[in-house]
Amino acid sequence: MEADYNIRVVKYFIVTALAWALVGMLVGLMLAAQLYWPALNFDSEYFQFGRLRPLHTSGVIFGFTVNILMGTSLYIVQRTGRTPLFNNTLAWMVYWGWQLVLMLAVITLPLGFTTSKEYAELEWPIDILIAVVWVMYAVLFFGTVGKRTVKHIFVSNWFFGAFIIVIAMIFIVNNLEYPVSLWKSYSIYSGTQDAIVQWWWGHNAVGFLLTAGIIGMNYYFISKATERPIYSYRLSVVNFWGLVGFYTWAGTHHLIYSSVDDWVQNLGIIMSLLLWLPSWAGAFNNLMTLLSNKEKLKHDFVMLFFLSAVIYYALATLEGPLLSIRWFNMVAHNTEWIVGHVHSAALGWVAMSGFAVFYYFIPRLWGYTEMWSRRLMKWHFWFSHIGITLYAVALWIGGIGQGYMWLKQNADGSLAYSFVESMNFVGPWFLMRFIGGAFFVAGVLIMLYNFYRTLTQSWDAREPAREVAYAD
Ligand code: HEM
Ligand code: HEM
Repeated sequence: MEADYNIRVVKYFIVTALAWALVGMLVGLMLAAQLYWPALNFDSEYFQFGRLRPLHTSGVIFGFTVNILMGTSLYIVQRTGRTPLFNNTLAWMVYWGWQLVLMLAVITLPLGFTTSKEYAELEWPIDILIAVVWVMYAVLFFGTVGKRTVKHIFVSNWFFGAFIIVIAMIFIVNNLEYPVSLWKSYSIYSGTQDAIVQWWWGHNAVGFLLTAGIIGMNYYFISKATERPIYSYRLSVVNFWGLVGFYTWAGTHHLIYSSVDDWVQNLGIIMSLLLWLPSWAGAFNNLMTLLSNKEKLKHDFVMLFFLSAVIYYALATLEGPLLSIRWFNMVAHNTEWIVGHVHSAALGWVAMSGFAVFYYFIPRLWGYTEMWSRRLMKWHFWFSHIGITLYAVALWIGGIGQGYMWLKQNADGSLAYSFVESMNFVGPWFLMRFIGGAFFVAGVLIMLYNFYRTLTQSWDAREPAREVAYAD
């Protein structure tokens, strides 16, 4: 049976995710540099901040995150269902179809083709391709769940299932548009309706792609790395239904103090506050699983990366509900504080989880049990922490200061600070964020070198992968 598992396609997805992690983050670093040294757009339309920004978000979200989620979901669904993939041709069509989407993004975004909707910038022909590939992925995943040889559906698959269904739904609804030429379309929605649909998408891309998908992946790999079962299966069910129940309603917390009806804003705020509960239930569950093997946790960098990811997740999901409260949002909205919130979760939770999975999974996929250098893993670990800390602290200070400067009024009601003054204030914090980003990217380069050395070790160093039975 195991011999029939399609591991080759999993390897392709994982290696591609690794490549996109580097490319996406390098573009992010370039953006951070441009915000401090604007001349770095080289006076070229192709290097403008506005064109590179969607390349960064698409690169890290659709390149790095979706590739790692597709790869791990197709691996986990085979192993936990004890069945090979539903259809191997379909698996390769999903792989190549998705890479075609990404290549088209790399070409069209710098050329300036955009719908101008955040995280949904790609134009309509690419949207159609995405929808087709996603439906094939859904058929492949659920088809494999359907032919499983064990009765039980492992919890990771529930999260992957929600990720696949919700992303399909919100992507299609948000991207309904009128094409006016091959590379230009306009949304069928307008005004506040457009805003609500856009943030229904935007927020649930966060909730189901950057959160539910990653949680699904982590439930399996944390248990594997810890060599223990999940701490509480019941809590993982609370985690699942809480996220699915509350997330889809919370999108309007992006539209506080906008012209969207107050009750719609309030609904988003209440759901955001409620989200705290399932988020922390999930974080607690993963934390307790990690702590169930304290001996290994002391020295195992895969577990330490996971531990860091879970802690950052807990922090981001505390900050998120706070940001949705009107009083906080009044200060934070449109400031760098939001970008800091995004990256404390994106780097701390998404990227750290990804690194842990790469370190656990890649050597084993090629038949090695250990990385070439533990010391380099340690360097990567600390570089990542330094990077995130500098990034988040810089943007907390820069963002909160900026927010208060915008709000401050003179006695006659005029604004106390000009916009330029607020930008001058943020400047040094942009530099600090750039340095933080550079540490983070340097960590990724260290990881890549370590993989290179691991996978080019002599054949003798290769042992049959030591799979642990838990969570299968
Ligand atoms: C070294 C790593 C990274 C650096 C230096 C970086 C830098 C940046 C910069 C400079 C921006 C533009 C902010 C602005 O418009 O003011 C940005 C936006 C963004 N990045 Fe990153 N980034 C990195 C990694 C990541 C990762 C791994 C993810 C997701 C997994 C991510 C997700 C995003 C998102 C969602 C936005 C839009 C934020 C918003 O609109 O508030 N970034 N990034
Ligand atoms: C309980 C969980 C969370 C809640 C309630 C929450 C809430 C919020 C709020 C209120 C904003 C600010 C909206 C604004 O005024 O502009 C925001 C922005 C954002 N959050 Fe969260 N957050 C949560 C967790 C996360 C996580 C785990 C991630 C990423 C992995 C994330 C990614 C983002 C992104 C990308 C934005 C910026 C969107 C944009 O303006 O482009 N959030 N979040």
